[in-house]
Amino acid sequence: MKDLEIRDIPENHSKIISKSEEIGFTMPSDLYIGSLLKTLICSKPKANILELGTGIGLSLSWMVDGLDQGSTITTIDNNPSLTAIAKGFFGKDSRVKILCADASEWIKSYTGESFDLIFADAWPGKYSEIDEVLELVKVGGFYIIDDMDTQPNWPVGHQDNVNLLVQYLEKREDFNLTKMNWSTGLIIAVKTK
Ligand SMILES: C[S@@+](CC[C@H](N)C(=O)[O-])C[C@H]1O[C@@H](n2cnc3c(N)ncnc32)[C@H](O)[C@@H]1O
Repeated sequence: MKDLEIRDIPENHSKIISKSEEIGFTMPSDLYIGSLLKTLICSKPKANILELGTGIGLSLSWMVDGLDQGSTITTIDNNPSLTAIAKGFFGKDSRVKILCADASEWIKSYTGESFDLIFADAWPGKYSEIDEVLELVKVGGFYIIDDMDTQPNWPVGHQDNVNLLVQYLEKREDFNLTKMNWSTGLIIAVKTK
């Protein structure tokens, strides 16, 4: 099986890649995590989805492709240049809410409906506000993170953050985890109670 033969790449994906190269954005999500997110979202009709770390919108392009007409996604980034670019690609889709905000503050003040899937791709919701963000996952819902495999460009000390996060998630009795050395190192967690 050739897992890189991904055939359902989103229509606007190549335009987003070009934009990413144009502005020198170095953190876009890869095809694997995108494909996985779309597949998981397809399992959740009328879903309420959250992404922390919109970035240039690459993972968002996959997630939007997985949404049915009754689903919505909220995606948050604290960089106004990036949210403006994402709005250029997805702003006309009424299912997509793109917010420019500090995700730590947003998580702490959010009082709305909990989420069927959270993709935490920024510091908040992974290395800070972890309890708060896990609280926002519905029972049966997914908490997804990537970038868990050691990278040469990690700052000194980041491996300790990653190890602590993995240990913490493993101790949670209300989540079932699968750790995957695929893509950039994934954790797929489902809330069980
Ligand atoms: C790994 S990138 C996200 C990549 C994105 N998923 C994509 O496919 O383009 C992480 C993003 O988190 C954003 N970020 C960092 N700290 C944040 C914070 N405190 N609140 C909101 N966003 C933050 C950064 O601006 C960056 O765009």
